[in-house]
Amino acid sequence: MGTMLEVNHLSISFGGLAAVDDFNVSIEKGELYGLIGPNGAGKTTVFNLLTGVYKPNEGKIFLDGKDITGRRTIDINKAGIARTFQNIRLFHQLPVIDNVKVGLHNRHAYSTLSGILRLPSYWTKEKEMDEEAMRLLSVFGLDQNAFTLASNLPYGQQRKLEIARALATKPKLLLLDEPAAGMNPNETAELMETIRFVLSEFDITVLLIEHDMKLVSGICERLTVLNFGRILAQGETAEVLHDPEVIKAYLGE
Ligand SMILES: Nc1ncnc2c1ncn2[C@@H]1O[C@H](COP(=O)(O)OP(=O)(O)OP(=O)(O)O)[C@@H](O)[C@H]1O
Ligand SMILES: [Mg+2]
Repeated sequence: MGTMLEVNHLSISFGGLAAVDDFNVSIEKGELYGLIGPNGAGKTTVFNLLTGVYKPNEGKIFLDGKDITGRRTIDINKAGIARTFQNIRLFHQLPVIDNVKVGLHNRHAYSTLSGILRLPSYWTKEKEMDEEAMRLLSVFGLDQNAFTLASNLPYGQQRKLEIARALATKPKLLLLDEPAAGMNPNETAELMETIRFVLSEFDITVLLIEHDMKLVSGICERLTVLNFGRILAQGETAEVLHDPEVIKAYLGE
């Protein structure tokens, strides 16, 4: 046990607009934590701050006890944070399996020389990566489509492939930005099952951004509600959902 992510007083503004203002959160190892809020609340900006896309004006970010504030995206990824994007970002012209192997390559570096010369060590690594990629794809029911071009997958499966690719980097913390966006209710339910399965099978912590309050409340025990860049409510899901401020923000009264 212990804390996986600790965020203190995180803030950023874009030309006078406080997109994220004094954001604080503490997420336990192995937790599935929810971040919700209406359009423009600052949810994606929080992810961009956590992953070093933006540098905060103020605040600190600790991953598994280590200060990662202000570090570069690539270093943060190495430290153990992987994410998916609100708008799918795949290598559309590559087969499904290669999209996952891109994630694996981040970990399994073989020497450039053995790659160029195609030495036996290169082929051994390639074979290991193929097997690992297939194992990950099968978690998402995508192993049958391993050699299909990513762009030819139905939308719901592209979203799953994004998660598989993020997992390939073996993150400690996985950030999912509205993974069910654009999915039908059946696909959504299936995805939530898969996320639960990933949590039980992988040594991982998940922070999930969602729009749909009902969806998050069904799977996250704790959550934070953002509104206009600020924390509106935070804590146990059941309590947060009964908070009059939250009800007001969501019903727009
Ligand atoms: N790079 C940027 N430059 C200027 N403004 C930005 C930038 N990034 C985000 N913002 C602004 O910050 C606010 C929060 O945006 P953000 O994308 O984080 O919201 P969100 O909660 O993810 O919303 P949605 O549910 O629509 O995805 C918005 O007003 C947005 O216009
Ligand atoms: Mg967003």
